[in-house]
Amino acid sequence: MNGNLAPSFSSADLQRLRTETFIQHLDYHPQLGSTNDRAMQLAGQSDESFPLLVLAESQTAGRGRGSNLWWSSGGALTFSVVLATEAAQLPPQRWPQVSLIVGLAVCEALEELLSRGVPTTSLDALPAAQVKWPNDVYLEGRKICGILVEVPPSLPGKLVLGIGINVNNSVDDAPEEIQQRATSLSDLTGHHYSLTDVLVKALQQLGERLETRRLWTDEVVTGWRDRCFLTGKSIQIDNGTRQSTGKCRGIDETGALLVENAGQVEKHLAGVIAVL
Ligand code: BTN
Repeated sequence: MNGNLAPSFSSADLQRLRTETFIQHLDYHPQLGSTNDRAMQLAGQSDESFPLLVLAESQTAGRGRGSNLWWSSGGALTFSVVLATEAAQLPPQRWPQVSLIVGLAVCEALEELLSRGVPTTSLDALPAAQVKWPNDVYLEGRKICGILVEVPPSLPGKLVLGIGINVNNSVDDAPEEIQQRATSLSDLTGHHYSLTDVLVKALQQLGERLETRRLWTDEVVTGWRDRCFLTGKSIQIDNGTRQSTGKCRGIDETGALLVENAGQVEKHLAGVIAVL
């Protein structure tokens, strides 16, 4: 629920999600533990139900990567999309790149939302949304969206795309460590947004990015390269067994992060990043 305890999504809003986006089936809850957990349960349904959207107005146990929790308060968007990977033409070797594709779609949606009502002459002054490899979206140097892509353990033909976007919530209400590195749309602009408009736009961009003819094209690689938040920064990457430091040289065509140290460029397919 939002701060006023009135539902954020009316039945007309839910209908828009069904008619204006690529979603085939909607599972809506005022409150859930985690939309990803619910999506994992529903992933065993008949293939006709996909893409399936699990939407919660609030989560009591939102999950981030690893053992992290996902903080969000009323006014944020928390949702998960379940894809049937064969129908979506997403072969397993491409799954590591899916969070970057989701990140690109969210960047495009946020930029379009920020540009609404702005005169053409001022569009250049708007902040560019960036992908922080492998699964975050940043605006003005702060995290605005987290993405958690999971494969349901007993259903390898499904992918769960968990997405949290800070919209009308203020990071002033967040724990101290989050306040310093996060932001929300309303913190950035001072405006209030229709959660339905933001969600419809994010799903439309995601639907477009997942169109078979657009998947795995050079334009996608250019998109995540141009939007790479880490390029040129000194970073440390921890892949679970080893830590290495170096300068980020961008993201390659396979979605790997390139890190240069002493003239050698290492490719990383997974890891936790600290900007030094
Ligand atoms: C991260 O930044 O580590 C990823 C955060 C992902 C959060 C979203 S909110 C909707 C979905 N449900 C969850 O429990 N997590 C994801």
